[in-house]
Formats: sequence, structure tokens, C-alpha cells
Amino acid sequence: MSVELTSLHKEYGDQIAVNDLSFKIESSEIVGFLGPNGAGKSTTMKMLSCFLPPTSGSASVCGHDILTEPVEVRRHLGYLPEHNPLYKEMYVHEFLLMCASVHGLDRKKARVADMIEMTGLVPEQNKRIGQLSKGYRQRVGLAQAMLHDPEVLILDEPTSGLDPNQLVEIRQLIKRIGEKKTVIFSSHIMQEVQALCDRVLIIHQGNLVADCQIDDLPNILREEEVYRVHAADDARASLLEKLPDILRMDRVARGEYRCIFPKGTTSGASIFRYCAEQDIVLEQLYKESTTVEDLFQQLTSAS
Ligand SMILES: Nc1ncnc2c1ncn2[C@@H]1O[C@H](COP(=O)(O)OP(=O)(O)OP(=O)(O)O)[C@@H](O)[C@H]1O
Ligand SMILES: [Mg+2]
Repeated sequence: MSVELTSLHKEYGDQIAVNDLSFKIESSEIVGFLGPNGAGKSTTMKMLSCFLPPTSGSASVCGHDILTEPVEVRRHLGYLPEHNPLYKEMYVHEFLLMCASVHGLDRKKARVADMIEMTGLVPEQNKRIGQLSKGYRQRVGLAQAMLHDPEVLILDEPTSGLDPNQLVEIRQLIKRIGEKKTVIFSSHIMQEVQALCDRVLIIHQGNLVADCQIDDLPNILREEEVYRVHAADDARASLLEKLPDILRMDRVARGEYRCIFPKGTTSGASIFRYCAEQDIVLEQLYKESTTVEDLFQQLTSAS
């Protein structure tokens, strides 16, 4: 087991930020940690990284307890904090060498060079951190987190503020790292989570409200199935309302409809056959699937 939380709990004064959180994460999983602003994501990540003591409960990283074995936890864990605090006066190269020394690594120079290469920092490596753009500072944070080759990476909003090109590169990097390591990252970009993760955890007001594999998404939440139909002729499309078993039909735009059925009562093939019989010319037909965004909205909209 890579990471295990058992009733991990944090209170700030009389506010409960993280409420008895329990879950387990296996090795080599990429887990998206989601929740609205103030849900308790960063607080959880800080506790797992031994930067903040829990009020109660426990957690372990690669079998090491965060309270009794913090040195071992830090050896097995790399952490990119939210807002990525760095020493702005230091040079990229110099900063990473210092981090390598703190970790007591052998072959420090070679390891730093590898990380600089891996995170695409080669052209910027001789600049001061304060001179770097936000995306490149984020890469320095990632390089710092991966320097000691930890088994678990905790990344708090690693792609926030990146331009579209950098977003793609950093996502590819996270995907690559996730093939061998356990990665837990928080994000507010739902498409990113859907594209990168094996699993999503959603927290709301400090409570775990969803824990699901991305592959299971299409099968959860919905009692109904929705088919999107694009018809060439709006007039004939009104016949869609008479599709067998249809519950209702919503018009989205000219020629574009959402046809809603009870779960398991129809199929794309039978809609296609009906349209052919009724002389409705189809331009597109597809089944809507549940997205991470649907799940997030449904589970975190209640206050
Ligand atoms: N040092 C602190 N003192 C008091 N309250 C705090 C402190 N740090 C966080 N909180 C509160 O705990 C709650 C959870 O905060 P946290 O930063 O963990 O949320 P988050 O899920 O990371 O949100 P975001 O998406 O905005 O980063 C918030 O209500 C926040 O105001
Ligand atoms: Mg946060």
C-alpha cells in the first residue's frame, strides 16, 4: 500500500477542515484529488507530507507513519506545495543541488542534471529562480519534488497558471511519472483529471464524497441514459419524440436533441433503425457519458 489514511482529521480553531478522512492508494496509481475551494485538499496534502500535524487520526506513506516516522515518510515522498514556495535569489541549478544535499543523495550533479533534462529546464538552468516565468518555476518545483526519486508524489495544483503548451508538457510528464510511481494531484481542471487519472477522490467540506475509478464513470450517477441526436431536417426530427421507451426529449439547438431513456432500455442501433424507418436523416448519434465534471457538480453543489 502506498498511502493509507485512517480517520485523518484537522481542525483550525472551531473549523473542521478535514473530517475523518479514510482511503487507501495502491502503488502506481494516478489519483486526482478534487474539491471546491476550501474543501480541505491542501490541508490533507500538507498532513501527508508531514508539514502539518493532524488533530487526530493517522496516515502512512509506504508503510511509514506520518507522526512517528516523518524522516522515512519524507524519504519516500516528493511534495509540490500549493503556490510552490522557492528561494527566488538562488540559481535553478544551485537550488536543486542544495535540495540534493538535504536529501543526502550520491551523485548529486548527475541527478540534478537528469531532473533538469526531464522537466525541460535546460534553457533556464542558469537563471535565478526569481527571473523565471511561472511555468518554469512550476517545473523547478516538480524537479525538486522528484529529485530523490520518491515512490509517492503529492502535487498540489501542479498545472495552475501554465500556458497551453506547458500544460500539455507537464501533463505528459505527470503521466510518464505515474507509470512507475504513485501520484496524487489536486486540480480544478476536470478534463485534465479525466485525461490523466486512474481514479478520482472528491472531497467537500472536509468529507470524502466520491472515490471512483475513471473507467467506472459512465456507469455511475445516472438513472437515465441520454443519446445525442443531430438530425439534418428539424421538421422530421420531431418524430424522435415517439422513439420507443423515450422519457422525454430536449432540443439543444437547431437539429440537435437530447433523447432521454430509462437506463438499459434502448441502444444506438435501435435509435438508428427507428430513424431509418421514419426517414430522419442522422448527422450524428452518440451516447452521453458521465464526466468528472457531472460527478463534481452533483456531489459538491450542496452547502
Ligand atoms: N492555517 C490555517 N488557519 C485557519 N484556517 C485554515 C488554515 N489553512 C486552511 N484553513 C481553512 O481550512 C479550509 C480548507 O483549506 P484548504 O487550503 O485545505 O482547501 P483547498 O481544498 O486546498 O482549497 P483550494 O482549492 O482553494 O486550494 C478552508 O476553509 C481554509 O480557510
Ligand atoms: Mg488548496
